[in-house]
Parts: sequence; structure tokens; C-alpha cells
Amino acid sequence: MPSDQSLAPLPQLPEGRALRAEIDLAKVRRNLKRIQDAAEGRGVWAVVKANAYGHGAVPVGRALEQGGAAGLAVSSLEEGLELREGGVRLPVMILGGLRPEAIPLASTHGLEVAVVGPEHLEAYARLLPTHPVKLHLKLDTGMGRFGLLPSELPEIMPSLKALAPWTEGVMGHFATSDDPDTRFALRQRATFEGCLEALSDAGIRPPQRHHANSDGILRRLFSEDTHVRPGLVLYGLTNLPEGRALGLEPALELVAEVARVKAVPAGTTVGYGRTFVAPQPMKIATLACGYADGYRRDLGNRATARHRGHAYPVVGRVSMDYLTVALPLDADAAPGDPMTLFSADPEAPNSVERLAQLLGTIPYELTCALHRRIARRYLD
Ligand SMILES: Cc1ncc(COP(=O)(O)O)c(C=O)c1O
Repeated sequence: MPSDQSLAPLPQLPEGRALRAEIDLAKVRRNLKRIQDAAEGRGVWAVVKANAYGHGAVPVGRALEQGGAAGLAVSSLEEGLELREGGVRLPVMILGGLRPEAIPLASTHGLEVAVVGPEHLEAYARLLPTHPVKLHLKLDTGMGRFGLLPSELPEIMPSLKALAPWTEGVMGHFATSDDPDTRFALRQRATFEGCLEALSDAGIRPPQRHHANSDGILRRLFSEDTHVRPGLVLYGLTNLPEGRALGLEPALELVAEVARVKAVPAGTTVGYGRTFVAPQPMKIATLACGYADGYRRDLGNRATARHRGHAYPVVGRVSMDYLTVALPLDADAAPGDPMTLFSADPEAPNSVERLAQLLGTIPYELTCALHRRIARRYLD
């Protein structure tokens, strides 16, 4: 039998785990403007897949809509429907292709679809007269992943012609646009242009052409394209010095409140595996952020967290829900204090770009991993 005590009403819950991603939508809009200028006025298909690279698909999508994006690109039908449910009215394109069974749903919700291979062409031709959907023919110009191969175009040209009334665009995707050696990217461009010509000769001349992602735009690999397809730079992140030179502003900060602080003597070990030993008396702050939130386990004993203008080391192993930060004994830290784990200052040692470098990965991986259980707070 439960005791009377356990039947008592639950106390009102506090705000919850004090971990939040703060996203400045005005910065997203300013980044869009910078990219529109860099792309010399070409239309922008803004890539908001993977929950807008962890920033929140609907709020970011709506901000990009206000900011003048031509359309939004997502990976899957589910992501497209999420945008529609969130009130986004812009064109939305599904980059990952779509099975024929899902065409009626895409049609109802006005979603556009990338054609990523020849396998569904016949089924699409049967469905589109009654369930119209705009198509973008994705060409495999060298990515080796999705896309129609240039060598298979002659054989499938009759099927592509049948789909011409619904074909809105032709697209490709760069494999090496971050590489200072642009030879392969230029080869992809040449392949793309050759395919456009072959399609044109067959009478297929869709209004849109788009091949350049963020780095392709920064390296001006957009040629005669009508549109570009940036993702990363919209969030103010970049792998290239050209991107920093544009003044892109990182839009996201990851902030955790201090849950506990305690003073410990020298020799105290912290966390799983006892990988940190306090070299002198110090304070240890515990924050409710762990690898389940997307804060990588291998940042333990490597990264810093920022508190009242100081950078302090993240010590010990990062665990599933918590991490620990070492502060000097005289540091003025108390439960509830915010600590910045991902800084929006690109020069800070804990900026997303710097942390990605430290880990030997790319900024995409760090923001995309931010779990949906983290509260998102939007500034506008
Ligand atoms: C087909 C396609 N286009 C554009 C992008 C945007 O790339 P980036 O974030 O490098 O600008 C992606 C992202 O992976 C993609 O898959």
C-alpha cells in the first residue's frame, strides 16, 4: 500500500531541466541577406532539414520566409509536413525523393519533390495528372549518392519528357565545395551544364537550376544557375575563411544553468572513470547537460564553458545528463547561474566551429545532434 505521503499531490514542477538553446532569428535573417548578396540575387532554397540543423525547423522556416527565401528544402516528407503544420506557406522541397504512394499527400500539401533516380518515373507520370507535384530532377554530377546519372539520360529521356509539364528545376550537389582545390567541383559544374544542354535539346527547359550549397556559394560556383541551396551559412556557421569574411553571425547559443556547486579538496576525482583529479582545492559545478542532449562525450577534459566572462574547463567525463566544470575557489558561482556551452561568438574557444575543429568534425554534426528535449528559446 502506498503511504499517505506518496498520495499527496505533486508539488508544482519547476521550469524543468535548465538547459536551453537560444536562437536569434534576426541573425538568421541577416545571414540570409548576406547570402542573397553573395549569390548576386539568385533565389535561395534555404535548407532546414534535420530540424533546421538543430535550430528548430518551424521558427527558423518562418523567419526565413519573412526574410525573403524563395523556398525551404527538407530531407523527408515528415519534415515537409512539419513545416506545413507550422504554418509555412513558402514552396517546400523534399531533397531525399519520395515513393509514389506518398505523391498524393505531397500534392495536397504543396510539397515539391527531388527526383533522385529513374525508378519511379513511370509511376510519377501516372500519378501527377491527378495529383500534381512540382519536380526537381536531381543529377548525380559527382556526389555518387542520389541522382540521375548523366550516362542514363538518353535512355530515360522519353520518361523525363512525359514529366516535363511538372518539372520545375534541375539540380546537382557538390562533393568537394569546401576543398580549396576546385578542380572536381568545376568538373561537376561542367557535367551539370552538359546535362542541362542535353535536356534542353530534348525540349526540357525547366525554369530553375540549382547546384550550389553554402561553400559552393562562397566559392562562387553558381554560374548561370537561377537558385542556390545554402544550409550551414544561414545559421552563421562556416568552414571557410570566405564565410567569416562575409560577417556571418552564429545564431545559436547553448546555455545550461548551474545545478550544484561544491568546494572539493585537492585529490578529489570527478565523474565516471575518475579521469579528472582536482590538482588543488577548487569548486566543481554540475550542469544538467550531457551526451543525451548532444553535448559530445569526447568534449570532457577538452572543452571550456563560459561563466561571467571567464572560460572554465569542462572536467571529467561527460555523462548522459550531466557535465562538470572546474572553477577556482574564489569564483562567484551559484546554482541557477547560466553557463555558455556553445558560444555565438565565432572567435570564442567554445564556438561551434572551434569545438568541431577540436573534435576533428564539422559544425553540422554538433548542432544537428542537439536533442529535441533541449528547450529552444527564440529571440526576434
Ligand atoms: C542536396 C543538398 N543541398 C544543399 C545542402 C546544404 O548544404 P550546406 O549546409 O553545406 O550549405 C545539403 C546539405 O547537406 C544537401 O543535402
